[in-house]
Amino acid sequence: MDRSAADRPLAKPGILDITPYKPGKAQADGVENPVKLSANENILGCSPKAKAAFAEAAGKLNLYPDGRAGILREAISRKYGLEPERLIFGCGSDEIFQILNQTLLEPGDNMVQGEYGFAAYSIGARACQGEVRMAKETNLRIDVDEMLKCVDERTRLVFVANPANPTGTWLPGAEIRRLHAGLPAHVVLVLDGAYAEFAGDPNYEDGIALAREAANVVVTRTFSKLHGLAALRVGWAYGPTDLLEAMDRIRLPFNVNIPAQLAAVASLEDAEFQARSLALVEQWRPWLAQQIGGLGLEVAPSAANFVLARFAAVPGKTAAEAEAFLASKGLLTRGVAGYGLPDHLRITVGLEEHNRGVVDGLAEFLKG
Ligand SMILES: Cc1ncc(COP(=O)(O)O)c(C=O)c1O
Repeated sequence: MDRSAADRPLAKPGILDITPYKPGKAQADGVENPVKLSANENILGCSPKAKAAFAEAAGKLNLYPDGRAGILREAISRKYGLEPERLIFGCGSDEIFQILNQTLLEPGDNMVQGEYGFAAYSIGARACQGEVRMAKETNLRIDVDEMLKCVDERTRLVFVANPANPTGTWLPGAEIRRLHAGLPAHVVLVLDGAYAEFAGDPNYEDGIALAREAANVVVTRTFSKLHGLAALRVGWAYGPTDLLEAMDRIRLPFNVNIPAQLAAVASLEDAEFQARSLALVEQWRPWLAQQIGGLGLEVAPSAANFVLARFAAVPGKTAAEAEAFLASKGLLTRGVAGYGLPDHLRITVGLEEHNRGVVDGLAEFLKG
């Protein structure tokens, strides 16, 4: 349609084909204060030090934040041993994916992600009129050969969440390096480490070492998961200086607010809270997988703070019904049909009572 001849303002081609991002449910009909296990948040809340820093920031609400997030830049650079000029900060890592797409994609270019890849990558790419290529996954896991098959001269970005959402699966460092080695120099490999801290296997690598040496690797991280600061929207990325300089030109000038910067810095210093959050996931993730597996459901091997269960093996018992049944008991989980996984249900690791509630609820559901 000729947009200049239209009788009303029309969105750019492709915008209305984008499926809006669907967040995990926060409410259940007829249940007061349900437990939210639907968005991979931190069930322990956040660091008390972060809370105190946030409260203190109330005295500075009249001021614009430091647009370069100087205190946070310094804190991340110190904690991870990274060059400060190779960092960029965002309103969640979601904003960083958006900026990457905006910086690199022009109409006709493409980006590649796994077939069950995180929705935020493709929304941003489509907004730039880029083509989204979904590489087939094998056993719910990114398949490096399939990813490489999708790459051509118009590919600008390859997105890999490691561990992945919504599957929870992960690739060892050697596979990530093989993927990188197979990419042409003009393609940026984005390694989304939103769940990196939860991946304890010795063969897991967070990609920072690769990003340090390569001219085309960006690692993204977030304060939304382990640090429990999802409400404040703080993400960061480490990458090549020239790419980051380009990205820096188009980000919003004050994209990380003062309370968020101060709370994130305080959280980084709270090793005890981080250890406690990690220990909870390390204790209950395998328990959930084993118990849910014991009910006859398949559970994907997860390295994140959630598990993904498959209902196809139980005739007449669908994932959507299980989600509704658990919700009626005040336990909110996440159906992932929107990711092409209608038989699956994603469950964030909760406190002991929540995890037991999920397993008991599923047992009752499957029996009923
Ligand atoms: C794989 C993955 N990447 C990134 C994000 C977004 O993180 P942020 O809150 O930093 O935008 C999520 C959130 O669920 C995620 O699952």
